[in-house]
Amino acid sequence: MKLLSPRDPMGIYQILFAFAKETGSYIGDPGTRPLSQGFPLTTRVPGGPELPSHLPVTAQDRMYPKADGTPALKKAIADYYNRHYGCRLTTDNVMLFAGGRPGLVALLWMMQKDLRVSIEETEYTPYWDMLRHCGRDYAIVASNEQNRFRPTLDDHRTAHQQAGGNERQLLLRSNPGNPTGVTLQPSDLDKLARWTTEPGFAAIVDEAYEFFAEPPASVLAHVKDLDAHNLFVVGAATKGLQSPGARTGWVIGPSRELETLKNFSSYGMGGISQLSQNYVLQLFQPAHIDAARNAIATFYGSQRRRYCEAMESLGFVDYTGTGGFYCWMKLPGGLTASEFNRRMFRQRAAILPGELCDMRRRGEQSPLRHFLRLSFGPRTVEDFDGDLAVIKASLRE
Ligand SMILES: Cc1ncc(COP(=O)(O)O)c(C=O)c1O
Repeated sequence: MKLLSPRDPMGIYQILFAFAKETGSYIGDPGTRPLSQGFPLTTRVPGGPELPSHLPVTAQDRMYPKADGTPALKKAIADYYNRHYGCRLTTDNVMLFAGGRPGLVALLWMMQKDLRVSIEETEYTPYWDMLRHCGRDYAIVASNEQNRFRPTLDDHRTAHQQAGGNERQLLLRSNPGNPTGVTLQPSDLDKLARWTTEPGFAAIVDEAYEFFAEPPASVLAHVKDLDAHNLFVVGAATKGLQSPGARTGWVIGPSRELETLKNFSSYGMGGISQLSQNYVLQLFQPAHIDAARNAIATFYGSQRRRYCEAMESLGFVDYTGTGGFYCWMKLPGGLTASEFNRRMFRQRAAILPGELCDMRRRGEQSPLRHFLRLSFGPRTVEDFDGDLAVIKASLRE
C-alpha cells in the first residue's frame, strides 16, 4: 500500500546519486571536484573576515525559539538592509526560516490561488518542484539562447497577458539568477519595485546571491515603505555569509503579510534553531557582514572572470551574466551536458546539466541539454588549474 505521493528528488540530487553510483564516493568528498554544487567556500575567502568558530549555549537557548525568529537577529537583519539600501524596515518586516527554500515554499504554498506566477524558462532548479507541489499556476517567460537568457521585466507582463491576464500576477525571479548569473540593473530593480505598488501585481525576488555581484544589490534599495508594496525578498546565510550548514534564511515583506507567515510557523514549523540564529547573529555584526560583503563580491567576481574566460578559450560559448558563482556555458561541437558529465564523472568531477534548469522540464528534448552550469562556489584559487585540466580532458575524450 502506497501512502505518500511519490516525489523525485530535486535535479541536483539526481547528479549526486548518479555520481555516487558511478564513482562510489560523494561529490564534495576529498579528491572529488564538486563543480556541480551550489555551495560557497565555508572557509575564509581572500581578503575576507575570519568566520566565528565558537557558540556559547545557555539554558535560554534550549527553550522553544520565537515563531518568527529571535528579536535580536530580526533587528540585525533589518538594520543591515537599512544601512546598505536606505530602506526603513522594522522587525515586523522580517521572518526567519530554516534556509531560503523553506521560505520560498511557505510563500508559494500560502499565496492566494488567483495569483498566477510568472517565471523565466531558465531558472533555479527547485522552483519547478516547488510550483508543482504547491499546485501553482504559472506562465513561462522565454529565457533562452535567442534572447541570451536576458528577458526583460516587460516580457513577464507580456507572458502573463498571453496566459489570460485575468488573474493577479506574481513575478518570481532569482537575482542574480541561478544558473545564468544574469543580474537586474538598478533601473530594472526600480521599475520592479514600482510595479509592486500596483494593485494586481506582486513579486518574490530571491536574493540568495546578493553578495555575488559587483556591487551587491537588492530591490530594497528602491523601496522606502515596504508596507506600501506587494513585495517579498528572500535571503539566506547560505551563500554570502558562507554558512549553508546554519540552515538560516529570511523572508522580508509587508508586515500585514508577515503576520500570516508567522501564524504558519506557530502550527507548522515551531520556529528555527535558536543555536543557528545565535551563530548567524554573529555573522550579522556590522564589522563582519560589511567586510564579508566586500570580499565575497571581489573574490567571486575575479573567480567568475577566470573560470568563464578559460572555458571560452576552450570553445565553450559564454552566456554568463555579472553575478552569482556559476559559469553558464554552451558546450562546443554539439556535445550534450549529460555526455560531458559522464566523462567528468570518470575524473571524479561533475557539472549541472542545463536541462535541469529548464522550467518546461523537456528532459532530453530540452534546448538546454547543450548547456551546463559550472559552479566555482566551493573552489579555491589553488583548485583552478586542476579543474581546468579535467574540463579540457573531458572535451577531448
Ligand atoms: C536561487 C537560490 N535561491 C535560494 C537558495 C537557498 O538555498 P538554501 O535553502 O540552502 O538556503 C539557493 C541555493 O542554492 C539558490 O540557488
